[in-house]
Amino acid sequence: MSSVKLCLIVARAENGAIGKDGNLPWRLSDDLVHFKTTTRGCPVIMGRKTWESLPVQPLPGRDNIVLSRDGQYAAPGARVYTSMPAAIAAGRALAIAAGKPELFVVGGEAIYAAALPFADRLYITDVDTKIDGDAFFPEFDAAAFTETESRRVEANEKNEFSFTIRILDRLA
Ligand SMILES: NC(=O)c1ccc[n+]([C@@H]2O[C@H](COP(=O)([O-])OP(=O)(O)OC[C@H]3O[C@@H](n4cnc5c(N)ncnc54)[C@H](OP(=O)(O)O)[C@@H]3O)[C@@H](O)[C@H]2O)c1
Repeated sequence: MSSVKLCLIVARAENGAIGKDGNLPWRLSDDLVHFKTTTRGCPVIMGRKTWESLPVQPLPGRDNIVLSRDGQYAAPGARVYTSMPAAIAAGRALAIAAGKPELFVVGGEAIYAAALPFADRLYITDVDTKIDGDAFFPEFDAAAFTETESRRVEANEKNEFSFTIRILDRLA
């Protein structure tokens, strides 16, 4: 067992929506701050479409790992892998080299689904809205996890909706 925790980090609406037309379906500055702070210095694994949606490539200060079934896919500034187990193995090695206890899976839909069976911890931002989307967070067995932390953020001029940031840890 590696001591590096595999963590998923996601913001999802009440109906499970996480994205629309290749982008996030909301403006939540404080959740972006939470994402940046939580993942700082840690390797991040993402799907090719999420990579292409980034305003700045790669996500700075983190080893970026991109999943594509096209082994020739060019993602300058990132490492490309064609399978989730290979991406996780590479990410764990990079986390150990960086002295970090966590490795993050940062979306989107297919990537979360492929990583969920291996996840030790979920950072879920539950956004207080039902919203039109074309990418969704997968259903998962919530009984396999326990909530270890939760923090509420109210809507304001920086956050279009109120939301709750939760940490769920897999039960032993
Ligand atoms: N709310 C959030 O927290 C959050 C987080 C991240 C993303 N998003 C949103 O989610 C949307 C993008 O998500 P998406 O689900 O459409 O795309 P995605 O998961 O980012 O990327 C999908 C691509 O990843 C590759 N892929 C998928 N499964 C794979 C596997 N098992 N092995 C190897 N490669 C694999 C394929 O690339 P190829 O086609 O190149 O083979 C596939 O087309 C955007 O709207 C984005 O803004 C939201």
